[in-house]
This record gives sequence, structure tokens and C-alpha cells, in this order.
Amino acid sequence: MVAFSHLAVAASAIATVFAAPTANADPDPPDFELGPHNLARRQDYNQNYKTSGNVNFSPANNGYSVTFSGAGDFVVGKGWKTGTTRNITFDGSTTQTAGTVLVSVYGWTTNPLVEYYVQEYTSNGAGSAQGQKLGTVTCDGSVYDIWKHQQVNQPSIQGTSTFWQYISNRQTKRPGSGTVTTSCHFDAWKAAGLNLGSHNYQTLSTEGWGNAGGNSKYTITGA
Ligand SMILES: *[C@@H]1O[C@H](CO)[C@@H](O)[C@H](O)[C@H]1NC(C)=O
Repeated sequence: MVAFSHLAVAASAIATVFAAPTANADPDPPDFELGPHNLARRQDYNQNYKTSGNVNFSPANNGYSVTFSGAGDFVVGKGWKTGTTRNITFDGSTTQTAGTVLVSVYGWTTNPLVEYYVQEYTSNGAGSAQGQKLGTVTCDGSVYDIWKHQQVNQPSIQGTSTFWQYISNRQTKRPGSGTVTTSCHFDAWKAAGLNLGSHNYQTLSTEGWGNAGGNSKYTITGA
């Protein structure tokens, strides 16, 4: 092990160089830190994707707030570097004045590459839910519709790729507060043939598009 210590140092220096700019805002996060799917990072991996309008994202230690107007597309959020079957509790509010706005437990896995959503609030009832509806599941006292949708040559955490989205869409909007028992969704997805891979980051996120306007503000806890 000792023989490789210089390699470890080199690797960590490289990791520092390539860290997302926002990682520097919180030099020593415990377990809970800025999700990389904030506006800056999205622009990083989303080079063919036009983002327009005003999005003012303010991450905090235990949550975030964002105000937006005339927004073409954005995702901002806060969460954990590595997703798992944690229970995620959020408390706050979202107001939509224009466009489409959604609030989700949001994350990615690799092998297979999957972008997943547990949609707690959508301004239009659908949010990202499209493609094929596979059934319903009751989690945390509410019914969610389960969807799968294939993204073809779309931005991802591995660059432009073709991958599946797994979506649980809460039938009753919940923009204020609640707890998402992620294992309930992951188990239901698996039973529907939707397998996750190795967890990448996991957040509570606000997304908007279509000249979206409004604001969103949450504190987030999880175990
Ligand atoms: C998450 O919630 C479920 C269902 O309420 C509970 O059984 C489980 O113990 C919780 N897990 C944690 C880590 O709190």
C-alpha cells in the first residue's frame, strides 16, 4: 500500500483540479453536500442544450433556494454524492408562475445509466413523466404512477448518451413538506423490471423549462 501512496496523492490532486466549481463552496462537507446537478454543472455536461433566462440558485448547508424567470431549462438541487435507500425529508415551498416546474427526489445510477425521479410536485401533473406507464405504487401514504422513458442522445452524467428515466409521479401534488422513502420506489421499480445500477448522486431538486417562472425553497434531511 505504501508503495502506491504517491499515486494516491497524484489522483487526489487531479480530482481537485476537476472538481465542480461549486464543490469549493463547502470545503469539508460531512455526508450532505451540494449535488453536482446544479446549474453550473448542468452547463458543463449539457453543452448542446440551450439554457436561457434567469436562474438564481442559492445552496445552503441544509437545503437550497432558487428563483427563476423566463427559464429555458434548469435543474438545481441539493443532496448526497452517493445515493442509497435513504429516507429524504423536505420542508419548504414551490411557487410556479409560468412554464413547467417540478420538485423531485432526483438521482442517477451507472451500469446501467439511469436518471430517476420521484416527483413530489409538478405544476402540470406530468413533469418528466412520459413514455410508458407501468403501473402504480403506494409509498408514504400516496399513490404514484410509475413510468419509464428512454432518452436518446441526451445530456447525462456520462456525456451525451441514450439511457432510461425511471419516474414515480405522485398523483397528489406535495410542494410543501414530506418524506420520500426511496426504497419503496426502488423496490416497485425493480418489480416492474426497472433495475438501478451503482448509485451516483441523489438530491432533492427543482427543475423547470418552457420559460419557467417562480421560486422554490427547501430544507432537506435524510438518513
Ligand atoms: C425509512 O422509512 C422506513 C419506512 O417508514 C423505515 O422502515 C426505515 O427504518 C427508515 N429508514 C431509515 C434509515 O430511517
